[in-house]
Amino acid sequence: MIVVKKLLFVLGTRPEVIKMAPVIRAARAAGHATTLLHTGQHREMAEDMLAVFGLRPDIDLAVMEPNQSLFTVSARILERFAPVFERDRFDMILVQGDTTTAFMGALAGYYTKTPVAHIEAGLRTNDKFSPYPEEMNRRLVGSLCDLHFPPTERARKNLLAMGVAAKNIHVTGNTVIDALFWALEMPHEPSPEIWPALGGNHRLILVTTHRRESFGEPHRRVFRALREIVDSAPDLKLLLPVHPNPNVRNEVASMLDHHPRILLTTPLGYLDFLHAMKRATLILSDSGGVQEEAPSLKKPVLVLRETTERPEGVESGALKLVGTDPELIYNEAIRLLTDPAAYAAMTGKENPYGDGQASQRILRSIELFFA
Ligand code: UD1
Ligand code: UDP
Repeated sequence: MIVVKKLLFVLGTRPEVIKMAPVIRAARAAGHATTLLHTGQHREMAEDMLAVFGLRPDIDLAVMEPNQSLFTVSARILERFAPVFERDRFDMILVQGDTTTAFMGALAGYYTKTPVAHIEAGLRTNDKFSPYPEEMNRRLVGSLCDLHFPPTERARKNLLAMGVAAKNIHVTGNTVIDALFWALEMPHEPSPEIWPALGGNHRLILVTTHRRESFGEPHRRVFRALREIVDSAPDLKLLLPVHPNPNVRNEVASMLDHHPRILLTTPLGYLDFLHAMKRATLILSDSGGVQEEAPSLKKPVLVLRETTERPEGVESGALKLVGTDPELIYNEAIRLLTDPAAYAAMTGKENPYGDGQASQRILRSIELFFA
């Protein structure tokens, strides 16, 4: 018989909603009492994702401000957590990934002596400024929490090296694959805004970029390379759903607007984005989630970063690190677009990030923790 537990799910950004949704679904199906706390670190982007998975926050801290700094977003989240715990107690807090929301959620758990579970634990680049601040966020969450759910064996070893007791670590796969399989089952008509990218005989290049360490000159180098790639062949189109961070939006607008074969949109809903990934010939991205999803859709990803905490995808051949050097980005993209053997070498790989059962494993481990 299952003993009902009060679980507090803390989420705040787009990827946290996507990756937490299957765990919330599993916990509800098992009869646990779930409370969804949305910090509101993201506003529209998180709301789009909550709607896709039919989730409604029980608590919304509504912290987002335009162009928020790491100081203000951290302080606002932590401060607004306090009354939540004055009103209520929880058996466990669940946080996901490496955002400021996850770090503050884990810290709130520590302050209130509530057990914390970390989904997507153990990812490391071992460079504390890359990605910034995510590498430090996940290390700090790892120090604060009680149960660790690494997606891969490699991530488990990173936790052991940090001194985490083996009994508190359970390799589960990444819940993003559970979310992906779930979403692929949902009926969906693509939105008109992306029809020009989907219809027609062109080859589609899909791009996303938002990392803080790329703001400014690194982004300008990437955008120069993107223009040259599209200009290299008349049948290429590029779709870039632009992250709303003004540091990204302004640079994209000044360098990529007004090109007849470059389509800039607002962030896409998850189901639109999955359509675009399926339609794409090639993906260039600095996103963590995209690196994990693309191998399941058999799409090659050129990773627009100098480091990755997802080396399994690089080793399997599905991902290639190209950083922000325009020449390397251009050469690697052209190679994939012109050399079928190079393209085949990056596709058709097994996805190292999971089998769609991660949330079930997480839930079983949580129940065992209490047993
Ligand atoms: C955050 C996470 C990052 C994650 C990313 C996912 C931190 C420090 N960063 O980065 O790890 O990869 O989310 O996308 O936790 N904005 C809007 N509407 C939205 C969302 C953002 O307008 O719905 C704009 C606001 O001006 C906001 C800015 O983007 O101030 C930055 O948002 P923030 O959450 O601080 O950083 P991200 O770059 O989104
Ligand atoms: N995504 C989306 N719409 C977009 C861009 C991305 O739904 O316009 C999804 C994508 O499929 C992945 C997640 O958002 O699941 C990744 O989020 P993001 O890149 O913002 O964050 P990261 O994974 O880098 O933390």
